[in-house]
Amino acid sequence: MEKYIVIHGPNLNLLGTREPEIYGSTTLEEINEMLYNEAKKYNITLEIFQLNSEGEIIDTIHKHKNACGMIINPAAYTHYSIAILDAIKATNLPTVEVHLSNIHTREDFRKKSVTAEGCIGQISGFGSHSYILGLNAILNKNQNNKARK
Ligand code: DQA
Repeated sequence: MEKYIVIHGPNLNLLGTREPEIYGSTTLEEINEMLYNEAKKYNITLEIFQLNSEGEIIDTIHKHKNACGMIINPAAYTHYSIAILDAIKATNLPTVEVHLSNIHTREDFRKKSVTAEGCIGQISGFGSHSYILGLNAILNKNQNNKARK
């Protein structure tokens, strides 16, 4: 079975109670449940991680470099982690970046994503549904790439 990974970055373990007016009231467990259900429809294996530190995120990307793709919400690291950008580039792991909130309508420091430069694309602003859109986007991309071969 094809394997995909999902990485939730720092503070996302607090979803549900963390600034619900921005991030919604859906918990991380509920988001993961939605993702596992979506994965079942496509007969793929999904491994999901929530990591608060940059080094652990980088190690996890390295460890899963042979996966078919990754959905990542780097959270605050989005805005300044060149190390995570480099890990995505170094592994060539096809990646979609997702955000619950629309980072482009928030504070100026959130409008810039350094990590998106290494990604196929970015989905931002659809709440928990951003993750489902991200998974669908990468599956679709991989399907199209296969058809072309
Ligand atoms: C976030 C947006 C980031 O700016 C913020 O630091 C987060 C969550 C989002 O999903 O909307 O932690 O990535």
